[in-house]
Amino acid sequence: MAIRKIELYGSPVLREKSAPVTDITPEVQVLLDDMVETMRHASGAGLAANQVGIAARAMVVDLGARGEKEEILYLLNPEIVEQAGEMHEEEGCLSIPKIYERVKRPARIRVKALDRDGKPFEIEGTEFLCRALCHEIDHLDGILFVDRLSPLRRDIVKRKIKKLIRDGEWEDPYPQPERRSLDA
Ligand code: NI
Repeated sequence: MAIRKIELYGSPVLREKSAPVTDITPEVQVLLDDMVETMRHASGAGLAANQVGIAARAMVVDLGARGEKEEILYLLNPEIVEQAGEMHEEEGCLSIPKIYERVKRPARIRVKALDRDGKPFEIEGTEFLCRALCHEIDHLDGILFVDRLSPLRRDIVKRKIKKLIRDGEWEDPYPQPERRSLDA
């Protein structure tokens, strides 16, 4: 497994509508495994393939991100089959470091997808899982969580991002371990 580079806000691939995965090739499985390693390295709770530069409908969610249990959910070609209710909770994104905002999402969602072996399954989520599924499926459609804010809030966030970039806060946000030990 390898840690891949995470694309940041402003990168065109984050705006692409990703293409369905048609064959579960070894390359697809390597991609999924690398995404898990990349997500963990960056202390994230979910990751979509276009965040590592591949516009394919593949995503991972760490079900253990909010607990001790470590369980990874792999989703290929996910589709929302049902959603209900509404919640407003804080989200962040590995592609938009240091920005956290409340986002409107359904309270409950049902998603069908293929797993890491191409087997179909369905999953229902509330709370964290619902937010994570919505957030990552949005990525596959080229949508970022900041797009779901009010125009006013979005302007504030855009100014914050510009300042973070200007101040160098977005340079190498997820340094490789090797780099860290060289610095030490
Ligand atoms: Ni994200």
